[in-house]
Amino acid sequence: MRKIGILTGGGDCPGLNAVIRGVVARCIQEDIAVFGFYAGWRGVLEDEGRWLTRADVEGIQTLGGTILGSSRTNVMKFENGPQMVRDAMERLELEGLVAVGGDDTLGVANTLRKLGMNMIGVPKTIDNDLSCTDWTFGFDTASNIAMEEIDRLHTTAESHERCFVVECMGRHTGWITLQAGVAANAHMVLIPEFPLSFDEIYSLVRERYVRGERYTIIAVAEGFELTGERMEDLERDMFGNVLLLHRELARHLADRIEKAIRSDETLDKRRAHFEARSVVLGHLQRGGAPTAFDRMLGTRMGVKAGDLVINGEYGNMVSLRGTEIEVADLDRAVTERKKVGKALYDVATLFY
Ligand code: F6P
Repeated sequence: MRKIGILTGGGDCPGLNAVIRGVVARCIQEDIAVFGFYAGWRGVLEDEGRWLTRADVEGIQTLGGTILGSSRTNVMKFENGPQMVRDAMERLELEGLVAVGGDDTLGVANTLRKLGMNMIGVPKTIDNDLSCTDWTFGFDTASNIAMEEIDRLHTTAESHERCFVVECMGRHTGWITLQAGVAANAHMVLIPEFPLSFDEIYSLVRERYVRGERYTIIAVAEGFELTGERMEDLERDMFGNVLLLHRELARHLADRIEKAIRSDETLDKRRAHFEARSVVLGHLQRGGAPTAFDRMLGTRMGVKAGDLVINGEYGNMVSLRGTEIEVADLDRAVTERKKVGKALYDVATLFY
């Protein structure tokens, strides 16, 4: 009997369970057994997991998170890490692995592929920043959650005539911030692809104040950096990613905006009462049930990954191109980042 393994690594993401269900259903249909490793690459290194049945995956596409668990374990940080993966695969007689993850998890899969192991990648990230796919599952759910929260901020911001800085996830790119910000009418969208100085941001807030606008909402991506100001060194995970939440970027911006307006003597006396507040949406954006779009995208990608296993087409990543599920080059997908382009950014700035 043919056998494969599956794992979900990196930050969890709505739609992961739909992928697992798709892979398992498609493989079992062709009598291929699927072993689910727990907690991403950690489960492979520590021999933790179980064989999955159709009953295990019944209806799980409705659930957020991942039934297999996840971790940010980096195989390459272990002495003999790749050999440990090879050994685990041999022990279980797995012909290949389906790795569902973002650039870190798929980066490991790509290195193992180059070392001769059979790998198939499924792109996952709420950040939507993986190249070679138009959209990643999880992004739609996360942007809808962020949009709903920003929608809510309008009334409280207006009642108190405040400036709100709301921080969305997006380590390297501003996809969620832009999508949610434009949809929920944030007055300004700050994303890593288009850095601004504090003075530039302040002059936009000031302009609104002078125009007599009662409040301002700024959506900022956690990875945004002020031009000319260096990000302090912070704790990093096993892949070297800075733990951005510790930066308190939204609070930093809100405090500076409040101080700047209050001390701006060219403004009217209302400025003495000016207040700014910050909101960090954080992991709320990753939690809970996926949208219909993400359930369907995850399902289609999982089924396609199953097709690749059946045909022995290892070394590839599944991807969404337009409305079609296709096959992309794993190597390219993990070496290039998909960024928000100028045309899309201009859509946001048009409404400032
Ligand atoms: O998976 C992507 C992501 O959600 C980023 O947007 C965010 O910076 C990061 O994960 C947070 O990671 P963790 O859950 O490890 O704090």
